[in-house]
Amino acid sequence: MIMKEKTIAVIGGGKMGETLITRLLSTKTLRKDQLIVSDKNSSRVSYFQDQFGIRASTSNVDVAKDADIILLCIKPQLAQEVIESIRKSMNKDQLIISIMAGFTLAQLKEALVLPVPVIRAMPNTASEIGAGMTVLACCNSINGDHISMAEGLFNAVGKTLVLDEKYFDAVTGLSASGPAFIYVIIEALAEGGVKCGLPRDVSTTLVAQACLGAARMVTETNRHPAILKDHVTTPAGCTIDGLLKLEEGGLRVTLIKAVDEAARRAKELGRE
Ligand SMILES: NC(=O)c1ccc[n+]([C@@H]2O[C@H](COP(=O)([O-])OP(=O)(O)OC[C@H]3O[C@@H](n4cnc5c(N)ncnc54)[C@H](OP(=O)(O)O)[C@@H]3O)[C@@H](O)[C@H]2O)c1
Repeated sequence: MIMKEKTIAVIGGGKMGETLITRLLSTKTLRKDQLIVSDKNSSRVSYFQDQFGIRASTSNVDVAKDADIILLCIKPQLAQEVIESIRKSMNKDQLIISIMAGFTLAQLKEALVLPVPVIRAMPNTASEIGAGMTVLACCNSINGDHISMAEGLFNAVGKTLVLDEKYFDAVTGLSASGPAFIYVIIEALAEGGVKCGLPRDVSTTLVAQACLGAARMVTETNRHPAILKDHVTTPAGCTIDGLLKLEEGGLRVTLIKAVDEAARRAKELGRE
């Protein structure tokens, strides 16, 4: 209800901008007349007009000036330039939401100059199918309505969680980079199936469904993963032999280090 009369300007109609627009429309979170998008490429502008029937423009100023919420979906390297170009036509009642990786709330506030409410969001690529994970961090001037609106938008692409900004590098290393780590695990387990004689497509289907089932068992039963693992592992059965090989190969330590390293790089990128 809170979004019923709001207009949302998406600045940057690239991969993430398009994913958000697609899901916001397909989930009926927003109507076509509530969305407007800008992109520097006129071919992208025509694409949004033709494919989605929404208003689109090559002018960031035109789309930003009348919107209630401005969603920044451009690369962080362009943040300063784009914000400078739109800020003169903005007003203090507009809500700014940025999905730019590594661009902090303090940097956004500094570039915006105006005392506007700002939210930083970190979605992930599973947003494309509505199974994304988005973490939101808010500046001090954010109120409950702002958070509800941001949650309403990102719930269209999956789950949403509000956290302190100090966790954003860890969030980047885990939920943003995480899908890539899981794809490697899926690929490797599927190779295991092939090694044991399964056709590759069957093997990939079996492991993907096993991952989906395991993930849902964790989220839907709220049981600790160790308890769920113990439940699969019968004394002197097959699983314990497989688990022994995982321990020998240092899987746990490797995964912990992978997240830690990705989070370290996220922090480093934020300073570049
Ligand atoms: N992709 C992800 O999974 C993901 C996840 C979390 C966060 N993010 C963040 O989301 C943001 C967008 O990522 P993306 O993958 O969607 O990038 P992208 O596909 O490159 O999208 C950015 C779009 O903005 C356009 N653009 C460039 N300069 C512009 C300007 N001055 N005004 C308006 N539009 C302009 C780009 O055109 P050109 O291509 O011609 O430059 C492109 O169409 C990034 O900040 C990224 O850190 C992405």
